[in-house]
Amino acid sequence: MKTIIIGAGASGLFLASLLKKDYLILEHNSQIGAKIKISGGGKCNITNKFVSEKNYYGNQEFVKEILKNFSNKDLLSWLKKNNLEVNLLKENQYFFKNSDVLLDFFKKNVKNIRLNTEVLEVKEDLSVVTDKGVFKAQNVVVASGGLSFKKLGASGIGYEIAKSFSHSVTPLKPALVGLTVQPSESWFKNLSGISVFAKVKVGRKIFRQNVLFSHRGITGPAILNASLWWDRGKITIDFLNKEVFSYLKNPNKQISTQLPLPKRFIKEFLKAVGVEDKRVKFLKKEEKEKLKLLNSYEFAPAGTFGFERAEVTKGGVLTQELDLNMQSKFRKNLYFAGEVVDVTGELGGYNFQWAFSSAYAIYRSL
Ligand code: FDA
Repeated sequence: MKTIIIGAGASGLFLASLLKKDYLILEHNSQIGAKIKISGGGKCNITNKFVSEKNYYGNQEFVKEILKNFSNKDLLSWLKKNNLEVNLLKENQYFFKNSDVLLDFFKKNVKNIRLNTEVLEVKEDLSVVTDKGVFKAQNVVVASGGLSFKKLGASGIGYEIAKSFSHSVTPLKPALVGLTVQPSESWFKNLSGISVFAKVKVGRKIFRQNVLFSHRGITGPAILNASLWWDRGKITIDFLNKEVFSYLKNPNKQISTQLPLPKRFIKEFLKAVGVEDKRVKFLKKEEKEKLKLLNSYEFAPAGTFGFERAEVTKGGVLTQELDLNMQSKFRKNLYFAGEVVDVTGELGGYNFQWAFSSAYAIYRSL
């Protein structure tokens, strides 16, 4: 056996399916691809119609090079070649009819797996220590993923292995995750279950998608995406996407009857900013100013919903210490693939694309 792969997740399984032989996957779960199974609401959003390095948080120059050799188009061709049908949904996201389409392919094509085998350590000579004994091969690929969703098998082993070979691991944070709010935004919590199409701005990034209020704070696709680019500081939400007074045209009508927003949202917003629902002609100047906040509501999140709710882990093995085959610059024959690396995609299939592209980079060099 030439190559040991740690982890039977997206990147490990894809690499094994390309290698076909001379590999062994070590996986501590009792089944393969636990995240693939539940991803994309059970349909696995495998990639996106538009993928570029700009969709990734991390070293974008590095990402660009890796994507160049296995792009979204290459992934779609690979799927087609293997009769794995995908559908384009939500304008630009590719989903399977069911995640099992991909999982069944891996079950059929990836046979050399030891399940229920927990990797504990990789020694200097690349022997892999597990709770079921020591395994040795020429190459070791760390494809053990990130910290989110521990109940699905997530562990920090990949980061520990990287550190043991003197790699830097950038700070690990939950990402693609809901945000908790400060007491000043407690009105968000009264809106639990309400969703609004909004423009969310974080730094220079803008997302035009839904925001969803929850009893814990705020979530929904636009916020999940914003969480990737947010470190601290403020996020700005335009709840209307068009200037508020372009809606409040009739001076004799109440504010709430003219805004294209859920009634409960308007009521809570007005209460939060201290404006009564009244006919537009009775609005004072300072009240009009407050209504403009509907176009630019700034808030500083208190934190995130945490790793247990995060789709991914932001941060990881520093890309500057890997070559373009995802090989360690410090230890020949040691490779890192997928989420364990400091590259994190936005919502929309970018993370599976990264898992596959980074695995492909390794495949080319083995
Ligand atoms: P992955 O997590 O897939 O695999 C790592 C494997 O290593 C696991 O099987 C784990 O059990 C194993 N492992 C860990 N520690 C070990 C140890 N000590 N010993 C042995 N084995 C060990 N992305 C996307 O692009 N589209 C989507 O639709 C979604 N949807 C989605 C939903 C939810 C709820 C989550 C949590 C995540 C997503 N994602 C996603 C993200 C996507 O699932 C993720 O980025 C990839 O699975 C990462 O692939 P990896 O191969 O790097 O790790």
